[in-house]
Amino acid sequence: MELSNNGRRMLKAMREEPSKIWNLTDLLSACDWTDQAHVAGAGAALSEAGLVNQTEARTTLWKLASEGVAAAENGLLEQRIWEWLSEQSGNPGMAELQASGAVAKNEAGIGIGLLKDLGVQLIQGKFEVPGNTGAIVATLAMRADFVASLAGDGADGSGGIPESALDTAQVDYFSKRKGLITSSEEVVRTWALTPTGSALSDDDLVERLLVADITPELLSGEEWRDADYKPYDVTLPAPTPTAGKPHPMQSLIERIRAIFLEMGFSEIEGDFVTTAGWNMDALFIPQDHPAREMQDTFYLDEPASIPLPPDRMDQWADVHERGGDTGSSGWGGQFSHEISQKGMLRTHTTVNTVRHLAETPDQPCRVFGIGRVFRKESIDRTHLPEFHQIEGIIMEPGASLPMLVTTLKEFYAKMGYPEVRVRPAYFPYTEPSLEVEVKWRGQWLELGGAGIFRPEVTEPLGCKWPVCAWGMGLERLAMLVLGLDDIRQLYISDLEWLGEQPLL
Ligand code: PHE
Repeated sequence: MELSNNGRRMLKAMREEPSKIWNLTDLLSACDWTDQAHVAGAGAALSEAGLVNQTEARTTLWKLASEGVAAAENGLLEQRIWEWLSEQSGNPGMAELQASGAVAKNEAGIGIGLLKDLGVQLIQGKFEVPGNTGAIVATLAMRADFVASLAGDGADGSGGIPESALDTAQVDYFSKRKGLITSSEEVVRTWALTPTGSALSDDDLVERLLVADITPELLSGEEWRDADYKPYDVTLPAPTPTAGKPHPMQSLIERIRAIFLEMGFSEIEGDFVTTAGWNMDALFIPQDHPAREMQDTFYLDEPASIPLPPDRMDQWADVHERGGDTGSSGWGGQFSHEISQKGMLRTHTTVNTVRHLAETPDQPCRVFGIGRVFRKESIDRTHLPEFHQIEGIIMEPGASLPMLVTTLKEFYAKMGYPEVRVRPAYFPYTEPSLEVEVKWRGQWLELGGAGIFRPEVTEPLGCKWPVCAWGMGLERLAMLVLGLDDIRQLYISDLEWLGEQPLL
């Protein structure tokens, strides 16, 4: 059982006189307390724990009300009239009383009523006092005593005199008169040690340091070892800490990076600025393909053209015009070196993987990259002109469609989306081509494209083995992970929203 320091102190004091029945005053002085609440609080807790017996007695306390206080000073109304009457000679009446100033005008009527109750009569406006006045005098004296006995008590705000100490007949009588006395209820408690309380070891009663804040000063000393610690109430509302943390997109990129590294991939990078040659020609995208038009691609004024090695362009020309050595018939037409050398912002990160293959066509590889791409899109709920792609390839003997699908499924499963399906699609540079979809809140959402690079792509580069390739939208995935229905939320720097985002 957990004792509070106040509880310990109270028990210790009580054990000095184990069989005593303690009241509030005794305990306050024995514990060296001034605050009654300490006794009440510790007493209740100790009694709950079975260490002390607490008894409660309810007492009615009486004290003078405002009229009573005045009566204690000047005498009761009936008393004052009686005294005036005794001093009069002749046969005084109501008119004389009112003229005398012995009582206030508004008191006279009530006062006479009180005297009538005592046996004084008012006959044709004149007071008639009975022959024997002893009973009246005695009654008035008792009433005066009663008022005097209450005088001073409770005037300081304390409760008053317990009913048991007062004449009940008088209490009864005065409580029926207006404004003379008033009562309140008081709970009087006593406390006595129980056998369990007496049997407790002294060690349990040593007061202990109660720590609310753990500070370096506390930890550098020894006191903390034996201290009690204020428990946390985790149900209380608390401010949300808004310390700096990575942007959710940055966290997501780190997580994706970690997953691919874990799956045995190496990371590659590339430049934002590239040529139409690497972005499109190398991927066997026909030079008159509509996606190359100004409305989809950001072509650059500076550099408007970037020189490419002529033999590289000749290879692409051969494949585009006639299919090269691939057995394909190509696209026909006239391949343009000028179009090939146009400067532009990359429209997909497939340019990175294809350049990687061109650099090391004879080394099996598993590489990935996460990078920004640019397209002339108008901004809406699901489109941005700048976004990111998660790109990757596997080139090795036996690389195949099932290997590609398994790899993507594994990636999405690690991201927390175990349900993945693929559907047939078309890209100029893959055959077969796939669309990758994941299930999210019961719906299939398209997250990217994939396929096996066509021979028209790999053969001019000198690749020795089949190449699995994919490119997926990062922001689309972010929308799922963060539960967004507007892609713009990711980049509008909404500080409140950013502060609320969990660490991914
Ligand atoms: N580059 C394609 C896109 O931007 C995706 C893709 C990559 C498709 C690799 C097939 C192979 O949508």
